[in-house]
Amino acid sequence: MCGIVGYIGTKAASGILLEGLRKLEYRGYDSAGIATILDDQIHCVRAKGKLNNLQEKLDGEDNPAPLGIGHTRWATHGKPEEYNAHPHRDTEGRIAVVQNGIIENYRELREQLKAKGCEFRSQTDTETIPHLISQKLIAIKANPPNNKTAEASLLLEAVRQAVNELQGAFAIAVISADFPDELIVARQQAPLVIGFGQGEYYCASDTPAIVAYTRAVLPLENGEIARMTRMGVEVYNFEGIRQRKTPRTLNWNPVMVEKQGFRHYMLKEIYEQPGVVRTCLETYLVPDWTPELGISPIRLGIPDEFYADINQIQIVSCGTSWHASLVGKYLLEQLAQLPTAVQYASEFRYSPPPMIPNNLLIGVTQSGETADTLAALEMDKKRRKDETGPLRSRLLGITNRAESTLGELVDRVIDTQAGIEIGVAATKTFVAQLMAFYFLSLDLSYRRKTMTIEAIEKMIDGLRQLPAQVESVLESQERYIEELAHDFVDTQDFIFLGRGINFPIALEGALKLKEISYIHAEGYPAGEMKHGPIALLDSKVPVVTIAMPGPVFEKVLSNAQEARARDARLIGITPMDEVEAAETFDTLIPVPHVDEILSPIVTVIPMQLLSYHIAARRGLDVDQPRNLAKSVTVE
Ligand code: M6R
Repeated sequence: MCGIVGYIGTKAASGILLEGLRKLEYRGYDSAGIATILDDQIHCVRAKGKLNNLQEKLDGEDNPAPLGIGHTRWATHGKPEEYNAHPHRDTEGRIAVVQNGIIENYRELREQLKAKGCEFRSQTDTETIPHLISQKLIAIKANPPNNKTAEASLLLEAVRQAVNELQGAFAIAVISADFPDELIVARQQAPLVIGFGQGEYYCASDTPAIVAYTRAVLPLENGEIARMTRMGVEVYNFEGIRQRKTPRTLNWNPVMVEKQGFRHYMLKEIYEQPGVVRTCLETYLVPDWTPELGISPIRLGIPDEFYADINQIQIVSCGTSWHASLVGKYLLEQLAQLPTAVQYASEFRYSPPPMIPNNLLIGVTQSGETADTLAALEMDKKRRKDETGPLRSRLLGITNRAESTLGELVDRVIDTQAGIEIGVAATKTFVAQLMAFYFLSLDLSYRRKTMTIEAIEKMIDGLRQLPAQVESVLESQERYIEELAHDFVDTQDFIFLGRGINFPIALEGALKLKEISYIHAEGYPAGEMKHGPIALLDSKVPVVTIAMPGPVFEKVLSNAQEARARDARLIGITPMDEVEAAETFDTLIPVPHVDEILSPIVTVIPMQLLSYHIAARRGLDVDQPRNLAKSVTVE
């Protein structure tokens, strides 16, 4: 939620900041702004709405300032108006701050600061920060403390003292017209990465903003504050103790964060899915595995001791990751015979199940920064912290960003290897999460001996077919679905049905449609429809049904017929041949014959394409749907 960037070096900052913000716009697009230091003054330009509005304001400005900060906002406190846009300044306009997160104690701070004469001009929690830093600076100048941070810089010390008074989750970047050669950043539970160049340094909420300039990065840890100058970067903890840090090298390139000729990132990411599945297979399948090797065919790097004694699994996640978790539950229960509960992370934290012995808690989050998911995992870790036996904390993360906060929090990570996803609607990361669950379930099944070697081999063979099968759906169906989408431009309600392992795919189809086309949609287990939702059906409500051959195939077809009898237009996602399908469905979206248990990887593709093309036909901003943000770092 919200993206922040900063630059200190020798080049003009504003262009670099703007480009960085463009790569972070997925984090929020209610307003944007940048602040630089020009002629000894803070020069702040802000605009309501998307980044283009800010760009228009900046066009024609000749601003050579080599230091600045920028922000793109997803509104939490205060309406999405220009006066609430970041950067925010202190009363004298000498300090500018951008923030990602929420300052929970902002009300008390605001009252205290107002009492000291600070003038507030916005409704935001963030505005307390520049005022607080300004007050700290006044006190420090009057009575300089004798410590390392004050020795390094009074601005650093003022920010350090200020962040120690802030409660909540935040990442900030601060500049001051009185300290024109430094940029101060701090992190507490919200991501912030520093990029290292030659005599120039960058900071950002996420690496895509800086990967065009440098691949040497240092993610700040919680409770760390850094002073960036043209000479280098010094990192301290909030107590003021210097931390020794070494940047690491990203294996990304700037092209990965471009659209590469696709109209939208979402479509590009849908098309990347065969490659993502291939990468997962190459990464996690032991090459040339044979049963005689006596090792698991899956190489997740998780040692036996980690999960030898588990007898139950809990999964916490949100949104699309929650749907992947439901598929995971199916696999873990059916293959590894492990009872598995899936909870919304936002519910788990405040109504946690009792502490269960021999439990594995899995957090699934593509961004690794979703506040609800992190909070749920932290809560469980905390309540088990003194336990060493069966009640001990055991956390596994499934994420596309192993370097994220989740990566630091959990004991083990499965990196989903999908590459950066820019479209707000998750597509390729979902498929990669499903792959992670196939691997985890197979690894557990092998070690727990709940599947025969033959069954494991058959499943691995099936997994290896998936990239080509996904490719064939994309090649054969995209044009057709694009045409089909035309019929639904004015549709107001959709129903998605699936059963068993494809029920979560029905939920995912409905979520995709809601998110990017703003059409009301509901996903249901097909057998549940007759218990209520069937009342919604008439000729204006299309029903998309996933029907894959398997134990409940006939039942799904009967459920679909029940909908057809109520005049609903039935769209089937199925490998049935045309003649058979014509008896059941009004419209057929054929998919290859795939074992039902592997089919979610294939059946989700038409769902993604359908929602994409309906939204695109409606002329909507597919990559940045209204009110949403890619990374939801507030609870
Ligand atoms: O980064 P996460 O996977 O934790 O994100 C969870 C949800 O916010 C996310 O899946 C959201 O529902 C997406 N916009 C779905 O397309």
